[in-house]
Amino acid sequence: MYSNPELVLKGAFLESSICWQSPSNIALIKYWGKYGIQLPQNPSLSITLNNAVTKTKVTYAYSTTGKIETQLVFNDGEAPLFHEKINVFLKSILPIFPFLSQLKMTIESSNTFPHSAGIASSASAMSALALCLCSIENKLFSSLSNASDFFNKASYVARLGSGSASRSVYGGLVLWGKYDEINESSNEFAVPLRENIHPNFATLHDAILIVSDQEKKVSSTKGHSLMHGHPFEKARFEQARANMKVLLSALKDGDIPQFIEVVENEALSLHAMMMTSKESFLLMEPATIHIIDKIRFFRKENKVDICFTLDAGPNIHLIYSEKDKHHVKGFIKNDLLKNGLIKNWIDDCVGDGPKIIKE
Ligand code: PMV
Repeated sequence: MYSNPELVLKGAFLESSICWQSPSNIALIKYWGKYGIQLPQNPSLSITLNNAVTKTKVTYAYSTTGKIETQLVFNDGEAPLFHEKINVFLKSILPIFPFLSQLKMTIESSNTFPHSAGIASSASAMSALALCLCSIENKLFSSLSNASDFFNKASYVARLGSGSASRSVYGGLVLWGKYDEINESSNEFAVPLRENIHPNFATLHDAILIVSDQEKKVSSTKGHSLMHGHPFEKARFEQARANMKVLLSALKDGDIPQFIEVVENEALSLHAMMMTSKESFLLMEPATIHIIDKIRFFRKENKVDICFTLDAGPNIHLIYSEKDKHHVKGFIKNDLLKNGLIKNWIDDCVGDGPKIIKE
């Protein structure tokens, strides 16, 4: 779609740099299962976070070696596996950015959140890198001066790095994947959901409850592949579409009980898929289940609108809105932390999306 053999430099330029800060996101409707080149089997919907961000600075200069040359500094140190991943990714997108083989790049990347905190670092890292690449293209060729073209392409490129990263180039609620009732939606890139959001959902918060900081037991690549031939494959993709319909209507009408029901159903369905795939993964810890019970009990007893979602790991994302902030913080401190159910937690909320950083 974006292959462009014309994006080739005619001569040298002075060394320059660009820096973007891009957030992670947490899916409410989960993407789990893909086909072709990183295309989703079902549409997904997420909230973009505010505090959990990756900052990526790319310094670039003209080079005549004819190959991609990169140096990576990650959290002020080395990260050979991540560096390798970036090089493979850059090579794969050469038809989109042919000028990359005419550059020497130093990529400095750092996260504001700890590794393995249950926050998708690939979403923030790949979206930040995609945004830097689009900015470099625009600086060199003035080809992406229209903001909507710029973010569309950044989302497309981010998707090729990590599917969920396509959603991180926008703030608020973001949808990725073709969904007939949203005209502009596409499997190729994400679109922000700016209309039909009831004020009840304007200030969503995400308290990330850290049950374990162990490495992920299953990579996303492996997880997605296990959906091929899964006994519930067809049913899961249909369920995700049906849940999307219900969630969009709950968001429009301000229907909190419906929102809670769908969000928790999606989290548990994701884990059910992993538990019942040919190679089975049980990613919840005993404390995860204990906390889910407590959240449901707290909701019922105190009539507070909280719910949980999960990523592909044991940590819990506790979703609530501004009005319940004090109640929820009390629950976390006086119950979950006091009783040793969580090690710590990260206080995050819905954010405005990526920002360019002037240095
Ligand atoms: O973007 P990937 O390939 O790391 O897959 C992300 C999958 C989930 O985080 C489990 C769900 C989602 O939609 O973000």
